[in-house]
Amino acid sequence: MTTDIRGNPLSCNAASAAKLDAAFSKFHTYQIDPIADLDAIIAEAPDCVMAHAARAGIIATAADKAFDAELQASLSKAEALARRANPRERRYIAAARSWAEGDLSAATEHWGLAAIENPADLLAVQLAQIGDFFLGQSQMVRDRVARVMPRWSRDMPGYGYLLGMHAFGLEECGDFARAEAAGREAVGLDRRDGWAAHAVAHVMEMQGRAAEGSEFLWDTAPGWAPDSLFAYHNWWHLALFRVEQGDIAGALALFDERISAGGFGQALEAVDGSALLWRLWVLGHDVGDRWTKLAEAWGARIEDGLYAFNDVHAMMVFVGTDDVAAQRAVLATLERAAAGQGTNAMMSREVGLPLARGLAAFGAGDYAGSLGHILPVRGIANRFGGSHAQRDVVSWTLCEAAVRAGDRAMAEAMVAERLAAKEGSPVAQGWAARAGALGRRAAA
Ligand SMILES: [Fe+2]
Repeated sequence: MTTDIRGNPLSCNAASAAKLDAAFSKFHTYQIDPIADLDAIIAEAPDCVMAHAARAGIIATAADKAFDAELQASLSKAEALARRANPRERRYIAAARSWAEGDLSAATEHWGLAAIENPADLLAVQLAQIGDFFLGQSQMVRDRVARVMPRWSRDMPGYGYLLGMHAFGLEECGDFARAEAAGREAVGLDRRDGWAAHAVAHVMEMQGRAAEGSEFLWDTAPGWAPDSLFAYHNWWHLALFRVEQGDIAGALALFDERISAGGFGQALEAVDGSALLWRLWVLGHDVGDRWTKLAEAWGARIEDGLYAFNDVHAMMVFVGTDDVAAQRAVLATLERAAAGQGTNAMMSREVGLPLARGLAAFGAGDYAGSLGHILPVRGIANRFGGSHAQRDVVSWTLCEAAVRAGDRAMAEAMVAERLAAKEGSPVAQGWAARAGALGRRAAA
């Protein structure tokens, strides 16, 4: 029986297995370009089931409708070969099938089962963790990795990548000290490991350690940035630190030079670009004509209804450009999705729609209305996926809406939440001062 470098069973020949290891290794560090490598394997060995099934999984977890045809093509080829697939490969095929049908939970469980059955299956752990991330399941982001860790040892290839995945899960569950230690150890094992560096950045973001976070990302960037498909996201984290440090020009320079460098060819890049500009715009900073590129990127995706998290970020841009027709189109997309089936129906109904309506109300200057839409979402925003740092845009918008609405009690409550987590945050202190001024005016 053929196996991969960690002893996981494969139905292909040994030459293809070795090449799969190399392709997956790139995916583990988000280096370019695992898809090109898989295409080369498929060109040589069209019957390599895992190449098709893994390709489908990697494309699916980009959560971008623009890649849907590619996902369907890989899935069809994998399914046509299913009779010769082994049980592990059939799990991958089932996962991709579930994702393509809009059932992200079932897809994630299939990869999760693949990892339970083959604990050294690092790709299954990674795909399942990404699934849990899109589902906003913080505990599973951590525990899918924890499930397999006892079956690993430090000398197994890719141990550091597993450690980096665990670090991110620990961070999302608030176990910051262990997360930082694991993330730093993983970066020490492979400086290209942008996911592990990202976990450390998340710890610093959650703890309000903006100066340290800036320094850490800047210092480690020569390792994780070159030839990376994920660097834009770490640059986004660096931009968030810059905003918190009051370096708005620095944050905008990162948008211009790094975050937008890929032309927003991936939806996840557009998510980060939108989220950064929204934060700045909400604070009253001039972001110039930077919305334009993003409006083009989202304009091509507006009818998708693939993932409410993306739709809400599109709404940020169309509020920023004051494009009311496009705002209506995003709401219509979310309404259609909410009335449909699958994971995204729940996400759209429970979080996407009220949040998008709240952003639109904010843009229209209806700050009390914005609060009314967004406040009930504050506690359940995890249901539409993303990280705590990404969903922080909800709290961020609530703070500004409450201040602009002149609602002193609400503003103080929203700001208190932030200061409890990030005591020294200059941005939060800015809101606190403005909330306090509302109080003095009311008393005068
Ligand atoms: Fe992140």
